[in-house]
Amino acid sequence: MEAIGVNEQTPREIVEELDKYIVGQDEAKRSVAIALRNRWRSRQLTGQMKEEVIPKNILMIGSTGVGKTEIARRLAKLVRAPFLKVEATKFTEVGYVGRDVDSMIRDLVESAVHMVRAERMQSVQDKAAVQAEERIIDVFVPETKKVQNPLGRLFGGDDEEEKPEKEEPKKYAAGREWVRKRLNAGELENKVIEIEVEVQSKPVGGIFGGSFDGGMGDNIQDMLGSIMPKRRKKRKVTVAQARKIFTQEEAEKLIDMESVTDEAVRTTEYSGIIFLDEIDKVAVRGNSSGNDVSREGVQRDILPIVEGSTVMTKYGPVKTDHILFIAAGAFHVSKPSDLIPELQGRFPIRVELKSLRKEDFRRILTEPQNALIKQYQALLATEGVTLTFNDDAINRIAELACDVNEQSEDIGARRLHTLLEKLLEEVSFNAPELDDKDVVIDAAYVDKRLSDIVVNQDVSQFIL
Ligand SMILES: Nc1ncnc2c1ncn2[C@@H]1O[C@H](COP(=O)(O)OP(=O)(O)OP(=O)(O)O)[C@@H](O)[C@H]1O
Ligand SMILES: [Mg+2]
Repeated sequence: MEAIGVNEQTPREIVEELDKYIVGQDEAKRSVAIALRNRWRSRQLTGQMKEEVIPKNILMIGSTGVGKTEIARRLAKLVRAPFLKVEATKFTEVGYVGRDVDSMIRDLVESAVHMVRAERMQSVQDKAAVQAEERIIDVFVPETKKVQNPLGRLFGGDDEEEKPEKEEPKKYAAGREWVRKRLNAGELENKVIEIEVEVQSKPVGGIFGGSFDGGMGDNIQDMLGSIMPKRRKKRKVTVAQARKIFTQEEAEKLIDMESVTDEAVRTTEYSGIIFLDEIDKVAVRGNSSGNDVSREGVQRDILPIVEGSTVMTKYGPVKTDHILFIAAGAFHVSKPSDLIPELQGRFPIRVELKSLRKEDFRRILTEPQNALIKQYQALLATEGVTLTFNDDAINRIAELACDVNEQSEDIGARRLHTLLEKLLEEVSFNAPELDDKDVVIDAAYVDKRLSDIVVNQDVSQFIL
């Protein structure tokens, strides 16, 4: 399996994968694909050159609802690298002015640790399963000493010594084999046994209250957590559950957390990707005042991280120089040039996402693997309703979406959500009681349900 942080896909393959979910926006797809491939390329470099090559950050610009965040979401599933999607506005929330932007990096390492750990756990799975089986057998056939003539022990039995010692190991081994066979035959899966499980003691409610929420407080709490002894607690579970629990515990024992965190930090530094959404919301125009100051403050806080600095995390210092940043924003009110110049300079690749037209809407409705229409069909199928859309209906919906976007506000593909919800409201409500479970949506039906609303601009502003 490829190592974490190294995506083997070619740019073409990455675009193909994104194509499954996002219609159009080829330019944006291509540039993120190239950026990802460049991570792979720089991974092949060594020595000085490896240090010198720093990623070219991307700024995606496009009006609302055209697929910016969707690209980020799909990218997150696609890349085998630490990936974090965060809204720049998160750092402007009231009371959090200039708040700890470093938390981005901490969250990123955290996700890297999860990835590396999961991978290592997977690689020791077989061994852990074997050990888990032994522990289950231990429950059925405890170690010899404990079963040795229990009555004898109770009644002050000195006679323990007199027992034929040699018999016991044999019986013990035979008993274990017997249980092993039953286990392998799957006969014991539902049997309830009592086992001891590890429970991590947590400082209840958080010693540090809410004030350090998500910041340094977390770090300290985690550190405390690792000092606190693990308690063991008795639980009644089925053999099947016990196997899961034991395998997990054994796998944990088999992996070396220190080397996990080392690798996680390295992977974060050279392969980490941060998607900074809503960057336009922290851009300010002209003379700043009040709220604007805090927004500019956020930019100033973000700057060192994007430029390259070292952030302390509980897994050690993390250098941010080679982390790839992809920022996105609608830039309705502000312009990219309203960002502070230093920050602008750190996003050399600009891509524009196109406004969506009728043809795009038609495809968005039907083509993506999670296309809206497919979603409604699946939902209603649970009621036994077969929902069919005629081509003319789809065309009509796409047309109406365009109209409404032009008339009122262009909210891109989000318009389709509001339109479809309205269109299918009646079917949705009546679905359980429908006599005829075959529902066909044609252009006439679309017109009947939607045209009036669309034509009446005053009304459509409120409901679509
Ligand atoms: N090009 C597209 N292909 C398929 N679906 C799309 C496309 N553009 C938008 N959508 C759908 O529209 C919805 C909104 O898109 P998204 O969240 O990506 O908008 P955005 O560009 O991030 O807008 P904003 O600037 O408001 O954050 C999502 O459900 C998404 O699946
Ligand atoms: Mg968005």
